[in-house]
Amino acid sequence: MTAPVSPAETLRTALTSLLDGLPARQAGQAVERLIASYRGATPTHTPILRDRADVAAYAAYRMPATFEAVHAALEAFADAVPDWAPAGHTDVGGGTGAATWAVTATWDGERPVTVLDWAEPALSLGRDIATANPALRDARWQRAKIGSALTLDPTDLVTVSYVLNELTAPDRTALVDAAAAAAQALVIVEPGTPDGYARVIEARDRLIAAGFQVAAPCPHSAACPIVPGEDWCHFSARVSRSSLHRQVKGGSLAYEDEKFSYVAAARFPVDPAPARVVRKPQIRKGQVLLDLCETEPGLRRTTVSKRHGALYKEARDANWGDAWPPPSDEPPRT
Ligand SMILES: C[S@@+](CC[C@H](N)C(=O)[O-])C[C@H]1O[C@@H](n2cnc3c(N)ncnc32)[C@H](O)[C@@H]1O
Repeated sequence: MTAPVSPAETLRTALTSLLDGLPARQAGQAVERLIASYRGATPTHTPILRDRADVAAYAAYRMPATFEAVHAALEAFADAVPDWAPAGHTDVGGGTGAATWAVTATWDGERPVTVLDWAEPALSLGRDIATANPALRDARWQRAKIGSALTLDPTDLVTVSYVLNELTAPDRTALVDAAAAAAQALVIVEPGTPDGYARVIEARDRLIAAGFQVAAPCPHSAACPIVPGEDWCHFSARVSRSSLHRQVKGGSLAYEDEKFSYVAAARFPVDPAPARVVRKPQIRKGQVLLDLCETEPGLRRTTVSKRHGALYKEARDANWGDAWPPPSDEPPRT
């Protein structure tokens, strides 16, 4: 019997075939133009993704990374709400739909899915790629502008991935408020930079004020213990590099690490991790140093040594972003 193909593999195949008709040089130039636009002054007043070539380049170059980042955030969220699965999903600023793929990689089954974006070429390409994913067969891809007039239909889960970054401060507020009014659960992902973290914390504060509880990455819904300007909370997701990546960035590494910041929060009771590993664990001879965010006293470094027995083995296996201590029994996900 052959193993079922995961959404991640299906997405990779769909993205590779996207570039089939596009000469490598043209795809490389489109990516470089996009990187330059994203480096420029954002927010923008018109969509950056203007045509099919832009969007194909964006999708092939960035979608594997945004998919992996959102997938990691959703898995952490799912661990904190083991008896819950979304009965509906809206992806705002969804572009080519990376977060919709990540939701199907996190929870089995089908649900009504809506993707909203102001860039028609992105929606159109997202719709085409999604034909490869049976759980996205009936997804609706709709034009919508994020702004003070935005309202969202009620749904279980709203995702906002790599979007706050492109909005003005009033539009960020309008989006978080509209999502909080419509959703039972909200997952926001941003680049893992000091600015990305600041936007996540701004959204986190608004969600808590609106009655949400933080499910991940934080072990609590109290104020973040990080002193602004001194550090920023972020994580890392491993992404296989495509031939387009290698062409644009050079080098021969088979993977790269996507840094991201996120918050996942819900209106219903959540069971956050008691602590989370917030830096890459440092493995020394006979001991592992773990930087943890805990409920009390906040940030703390702990040393787990051979004396700790089974916990030492778990610490050696711990990854940046994991819950600590690891949950002993993984309950089946519905
Ligand atoms: C960096 S892309 C992220 C796409 C997707 N969420 C992902 O994670 O791959 C940002 C998306 O936000 C959309 N966007 C930016 N400003 C917008 C606005 N004011 N209204 C609607 N969509 C907007 C863009 O068109 C683009 O598709």
